[in-house]
Amino acid sequence: MAFLSDNLARVKPSPTIAMTNRAAELRAQGHDIIGLSAGEPDFDTPDHIRQAGKDAIDAGRTRYTAVDGTPSLKRAICDKFQRENGLDYTPAQITVGTGGKQILFNALLATLNPGDEVIIPAPYWVSYPDMVLLGGGSPVIVPCDIDSGFRLTPEALTQAITPRTKWVILNSPSNPSGAGYDADQMRALTDVLLQHPDIWILSDDIYEHLVFDGFRFVTPAQIEPRLKDRVLTMNGVSKAYAMTGWRIGYGAGPETLIRAMAKLQSQSTSNPCSISQFAAEAALTGPQDYITDSRAVFQRRRDLVVAGLNACPGITCPTPQGAFYVYPSIRDLIGTTSAAGTRIENDEAFANALLDEQGVAVVFGAAFGLSPHFRISYATSDAQLTQAIDRIRAFCEGCH
Ligand SMILES: Cc1ncc(COP(=O)(O)O)c(C=O)c1O
Repeated sequence: MAFLSDNLARVKPSPTIAMTNRAAELRAQGHDIIGLSAGEPDFDTPDHIRQAGKDAIDAGRTRYTAVDGTPSLKRAICDKFQRENGLDYTPAQITVGTGGKQILFNALLATLNPGDEVIIPAPYWVSYPDMVLLGGGSPVIVPCDIDSGFRLTPEALTQAITPRTKWVILNSPSNPSGAGYDADQMRALTDVLLQHPDIWILSDDIYEHLVFDGFRFVTPAQIEPRLKDRVLTMNGVSKAYAMTGWRIGYGAGPETLIRAMAKLQSQSTSNPCSISQFAAEAALTGPQDYITDSRAVFQRRRDLVVAGLNACPGITCPTPQGAFYVYPSIRDLIGTTSAAGTRIENDEAFANALLDEQGVAVVFGAAFGLSPHFRISYATSDAQLTQAIDRIRAFCEGCH
């Protein structure tokens, strides 16, 4: 009898964390490493949110709460959906978990049966396929290449649907490509999904507020209200308010699904941290200036990085609509040899050679299901970014 479960054996450790660890090891050995692999804002949580956390501790709000969120946080989330997305949800249709990650995990584990398929457009956030596998389902990866703007088209979606399709996961703006769906692009997908009444839609809106050049964020339940009773709209405070460590995410959907997710959570983690829930409530109900301020900084950095990368021989970098990532192509570098003699056979070889030869840590595209690419997180200072771009350019110039 095997000790470890078969489901766990199907799961691979997170490649983004592996890259971050490798960079940390090299740094510990004294190498000068620039890390561009982290997926979190480099800002501190705004003061009034931190204060709300401290106040919660001082007021003794340190006990168990309702399993999937305090009533007041759920009300604040309903108000957020109404105010920002024009969506009416009741508190019974809201669930709060330990990060958006737990919300996705709960939804998939609470609904998947063996053989159920989940459509995942690639490039995808690394955790989606593995969560599907942990739930006993089968990920169906649909490549969405650079020519389609890294977006799922209605044709590709239609082709991927089978009688076993249970969920489609949409993530706009996307990690890792930064691509966002505008209202027309989203409607083209919801039109297809309207014709398939048994398919559920998981919308990962975690980068909602990080959109640039006036791009208007939309979410499926808002674009097509007739789908609302089979959409789980997932969001959280991690990226919007620089609160990654506080671990609060939430989901909104039909009560049957929300109750099933709460049941699962009640037998695993119980409530998300009580202090963090009070801080998240302050984030959603308090001043929203951080969102506009950080958006301006990220847009400036995006422009710096896109221009810098496009000046590197062999790299093509599209301009993303949002998030804090770029996902350039290195098609023209495949088959070349680096200055130190490494053959760039694929994007993993590229990322490893770039780290070894120039001390820049990025994540290779295969980790996100679409090659030959790499992901840069530009959630770091302009100075670090400028230096990193110089090193990447030197690396590319050395490839022959
Ligand atoms: C696309 C996407 N979804 C969800 C998450 C989960 O965020 P959290 O669990 O911090 O809310 C992340 C975090 O990196 C992400 O990039």
